[in-house]
Amino acid sequence: MADFDFDVIVIGAGPGGYVAAIRAAQLGLKTACVESRETLGGTCLNVGCIPSKALLHASELYEEAANGTLAKLGVKIDKMSLDLDTMQGQRKDAVKGLTGGIEFLFKKNKVEWLKGHAAFTSPTAIDVGGKSYTAKNFIIATGSSVTPLPNVDVDNAKGIIVDSTGALELSKVPETMVVIGGGVIGLELGSVWRRVGAKVTVVEFLDQILPGMDGEVRKDANKIFKKQGFDFKLSTKVTGATVKGKKAILTVEPAAGGKAETIEADCVLVSIGRKPNTEGLGLDKAGITLNKRGQIETDHDFRTSVDGIWAIGDVIPGPMLAHKAEDEGIACAENIAGLTGIVNHDVIPSVVYTYPEIAGVGLTEEQAIEKAGGEKGAVKVGKFPMMANSRAKTNHEPDGFVKVIADATTDKVLGVWVIASVAGTMIAQAAQAMEFGATSEDIAYTCHAHPTHSEAIKEAAMAVTGKPIHM
Ligand code: FAD
Ligand code: NAI
Repeated sequence: MADFDFDVIVIGAGPGGYVAAIRAAQLGLKTACVESRETLGGTCLNVGCIPSKALLHASELYEEAANGTLAKLGVKIDKMSLDLDTMQGQRKDAVKGLTGGIEFLFKKNKVEWLKGHAAFTSPTAIDVGGKSYTAKNFIIATGSSVTPLPNVDVDNAKGIIVDSTGALELSKVPETMVVIGGGVIGLELGSVWRRVGAKVTVVEFLDQILPGMDGEVRKDANKIFKKQGFDFKLSTKVTGATVKGKKAILTVEPAAGGKAETIEADCVLVSIGRKPNTEGLGLDKAGITLNKRGQIETDHDFRTSVDGIWAIGDVIPGPMLAHKAEDEGIACAENIAGLTGIVNHDVIPSVVYTYPEIAGVGLTEEQAIEKAGGEKGAVKVGKFPMMANSRAKTNHEPDGFVKVIADATTDKVLGVWVIASVAGTMIAQAAQAMEFGATSEDIAYTCHAHPTHSEAIKEAAMAVTGKPIHM
């Protein structure tokens, strides 16, 4: 250790990096974490998961009051209005509280925060603001940033063509908003602004929204969002955008090519995916190369091709999700400390925090059939509609369903998909069951509390073998 300043230097203090740093310090390693932002917590806490959920929660309550949902339950509000400043204020408070919390945890665990941008100068040294630091181990956790769209220039300060960061900061509700990309960010932030009054059009290149999710879920979600007032232009690509005065003019055409048309909007959100942050990191000096997608490849233990350099989170392959980054951070720190850190990448839940929520874990039905060599009979599916779930019915939440996908021979659960008001919470039990290698019968014979939305998971599991009770 005498040869190095630190046992571990983590580059990036997002959910991957800050968690890895805390775990490494807990394991007795002398640890520092480099972060160039003013606050810790990375994309997730500063401009991602947390601020988007603060706006999603507040806008959902606003819509329930504004569209008469609350009145139908006997909660009458005679005079109501939107106070966007307060809504934005509570978003900022949530970010401030949580990012400050990480700073506290760093102090508590004796993780040193090196403020500034890190760049490798050799495989064992980095430069931060003109100062050199050496470490026995480096963890690259630099995360990701917005993928730019050619001919569509984002200017968050103007608030007309924005990315997700700009869309969180709007100081006025746009009358019309075009979302480019019907993925997670487009639907979550599109929901926020639709709920408070914007007319939202989603332009999606593919023939359906939410790529990567189960086919039936994608179709049903589209129907539900349309009912809520979203307009979808599927199989359509944006070829350019200009700003004229306070409006954006978008040029779109069919994805397969054809006649172009223009759409005018007060605000355009570019949300076509994210790309790994590797620029300016001096990876050439460290001897690390990138794959075709610009990601750093690692082995199962999160080791890169260079001894002593590890990588986790959005900068490596896999879903770009905060909890995936966190689990990788813990496992990576444990591996550095000589323990056995493992992440089961087959069981990583994903949640879209719209209303209703959309969640899944494991394989889609399409993937399960493909994995079985295209043999449909190799997979059994059980479904249960939320309409038939007593709690959802009582709460006036009829939309959605649960789908359990199991191996037809072994009955082992391969995937679970949920559209329900609380799907994000429900999916945890499915992930845990799958982690323990559960069969659909195991879930079906587990006692679930009544009345809960989770009973729909039990019933869908019962439906795998054709015996649900309430249908
Ligand atoms: P990041 O969180 O991106 O952190 C990397 C950090 O490294 C950054 O702070 C960056 O400043 C710093 N950094 C980069 N390069 C350097 C350098 N050279 N020197 C010093 N510092 C550097 N995921 C979910 O699971 N749930 C959600 O609800 C969710 N909502 C999201 C909403 C939005 C709008 C967005 C944009 C993303 C959302 N995500 C969500 C994705 C989630 O934010 C990311 O998957 C997660 O933050 C990745 O963590 P990370 O640690 O790999 O990287
Ligand atoms: P995404 O990959 O979810 O969706 C992008 C969409 O844009 C896709 O449907 C794609 O087909 C479409 N697209 C690509 N190019 C296009 C073009 N030129 N014109 C029209 N459509 C085009 O990416 P998104 O929404 O930007 O989110 C980025 C990442 O952030 C995701 O990978 C996600 O994992 C993460 N995230 C997670 C959240 C959550 O867990 N709730 C919330 C927000 C983001």
